[in-house]
Amino acid sequence: MVTTSAPGKLFILGEHAVVYGYPAIVAAINKRIFVTTRIVIKNSDEINTLGVSDNRFVRQALLYFKKTFQIHESIAITTRSAFSDTVGFGSSSAVTVATIASLNALFQRKLSNNDIFNLSYDVVKNIQGVASGADVAASVYGGITYYQKKEKTVVKKIECGKIHLIVGYSGVKADTVTIIKKVVNLYEGKKAFVENIFVDISLLVEKGLHHLEHKEYEQFGTCMNKNHALLHKLGVSTLMLDTMVKAALDAGAWGAKLSGAGGGDCIIAIGPQSKKQKIEEAIEHVGGEIIDVSISLEGTKII
Ligand code: MEV
Repeated sequence: MVTTSAPGKLFILGEHAVVYGYPAIVAAINKRIFVTTRIVIKNSDEINTLGVSDNRFVRQALLYFKKTFQIHESIAITTRSAFSDTVGFGSSSAVTVATIASLNALFQRKLSNNDIFNLSYDVVKNIQGVASGADVAASVYGGITYYQKKEKTVVKKIECGKIHLIVGYSGVKADTVTIIKKVVNLYEGKKAFVENIFVDISLLVEKGLHHLEHKEYEQFGTCMNKNHALLHKLGVSTLMLDTMVKAALDAGAWGAKLSGAGGGDCIIAIGPQSKKQKIEEAIEHVGGEIIDVSISLEGTKII
């Protein structure tokens, strides 16, 4: 029997554009999903996905792993999650990565993190149709990463000291796939408009990377604000997300933006430690829920 875990993620900069080959910055968080696998003497696999309502990712990961490595034993899989799958912390990718990592350890396949990334990304992409793989990278490697998926995948760890994110949940679960498709449709209809937005987002990602590496958090906050404005222009923000962002900024945050696909889920904000409480209260005042989350350096691991 083997138990592994993988962290959830928060997009810091670059969501949506990253699906089209532009770079993004994504962070692993201290909320994890746990997957236990064991061989059972039965005719079929047993899958029990507690805390993960969409069990397709575990099922597909298991099928894909068995097919790839010609495994014929029956497997029992159970999951446990330290976060709700309604908040947009990348539970699908985290559970996929933890499942592949757990099977890897159970069958002693000695896969590298790179292999775990590739297998997990195939599974997520097959189910979602479109996916950048940035959240898969966060779940595999941990920490804050600069990520780009073009002909080849770039995953670069960012050394930026400790950044404290404030996370406000909108109360609305976003349907990531629907919003990705909405952007795909917009892209097909108004290619130049959307491409311009993506290019501007990618410039912010490069700038943001520079500020993070130089620990210039206030300037980094400005990049977050500009990125939020571009996501708003792309049509993926909501009134509630905009309201929480404004509340955070009015309370003294350096930067705030929606994180992830948009359409609901969370905003992230950064600001001086002295203003943390005020920013959190301001977000709550407009109806947001503060979720206590920190960035985690740990990627997937065996427990
Ligand atoms: C969703 O968390 C982020 C998107 O960029 C999709 C993706 O990267 O796969 C919208």
